[in-house]
Amino acid sequence: MNIYFDNAATTKLDKRVLEEMIPFMVENYGNPSSIHKHGREVKASVENSRNKIADILGVTPGEIFFTSGGTEADNTFIINAIYSRKIKTAITSKIEHHAVLHTLEDLEQKNVIKILYVNIDSNGHIDYTHLEELISSHPKSLISLMHGNNEIGNITDIERVAQICNTNDSIFHSDTVQTIGHFNMNLSSNIIHSIVGSAHKFHGPKGIGFMYINNKIKIPPYIIGGSQERNMRGGTENVSGIIGLSKALEITIEEKDKTKKRIENLKFNMIDMLKRNVKNLIFNGDCENPKKSLFHVLSLSIPKIEDKQMFLFNLDINKISVSAGSACSSGSSKNSHVLEELKLKDNHSPVRISFSKLNTMEEVNYVVEKIVELQKIS
Ligand SMILES: Cc1ncc(COP(=O)(O)O)c(C=O)c1O
Repeated sequence: MNIYFDNAATTKLDKRVLEEMIPFMVENYGNPSSIHKHGREVKASVENSRNKIADILGVTPGEIFFTSGGTEADNTFIINAIYSRKIKTAITSKIEHHAVLHTLEDLEQKNVIKILYVNIDSNGHIDYTHLEELISSHPKSLISLMHGNNEIGNITDIERVAQICNTNDSIFHSDTVQTIGHFNMNLSSNIIHSIVGSAHKFHGPKGIGFMYINNKIKIPPYIIGGSQERNMRGGTENVSGIIGLSKALEITIEEKDKTKKRIENLKFNMIDMLKRNVKNLIFNGDCENPKKSLFHVLSLSIPKIEDKQMFLFNLDINKISVSAGSACSSGSSKNSHVLEELKLKDNHSPVRISFSKLNTMEEVNYVVEKIVELQKIS
């Protein structure tokens, strides 16, 4: 059997999503910007998708902009908010996704901003008291803190962060790529200024995502060209992707409670079995705390492994797809920046197991069996 436990990297396309997309690749091929019938019909479907996403998030359709995915959405908001509002300070953490971290670092290298990093505790959670101090002493900053960490699964209380930001004219952006569709998210209180989503993380197609930008915040376009996306992003829309994105989100939200229950059962059984069978195993982050950890992510540090790459390679040979950190860092022998921040022990091998609704208990049993077997011979 081929086992896929790398769902934080990407998920399998849901067939119901594909069925909804196909007509927009074959029959409904008009350009949504064209004013004739072919174009108008497609435009109406694109707007229908936008309305559905806006409804789910409790925002207005005018606040949703389609992008090519999470990375573009993070880049667009961060870069353009900073330049257009002449922001001089960005507050973030060292365990953000590179779509945020590298973007901010690039701006710092160009002397546009100075970055201040909020302290992280030993469980990988941000220190809210330190965050409050940083924010209150640096008004008009851009704060970017992710909702769910893609490597260790920790959840940040973004409502709490937003409340802090609201006290001093700061802008709050949150990378919600790992939580969109998995959690109820209602943004109607208007205190979170921007979030982003990516369809391939919830059984939608790759190469399509969106950003929400609160009406109060006006930023210029990032991709300059035609007047698509109300002048915010030039370029003909990825129509079938947009249709797939909204369908995938609808399905994920509808099935959210059932999926959560199913995955939590798999995750906690796996935790129990691993604890019983692997001595000195470390769970990275706060994965045993269901309130503060993504239910679909489990990050482990397996002890007494001299050759970490070999360990993952051996899992692969046994037809198990997992990753060491994020998909972007797998394939490289460097440790992940997130686990380095948490001070991963030298002879421990990091393994990120990330679940979807398609995984089974049989697969959990097999993976635990192989981890135990390979750890003994490493
Ligand atoms: C937290 C987080 N942010 C951003 C991204 C990038 O999203 P995309 O692949 O759609 O560019 C990812 C994908 O791994 C992610 O996990």
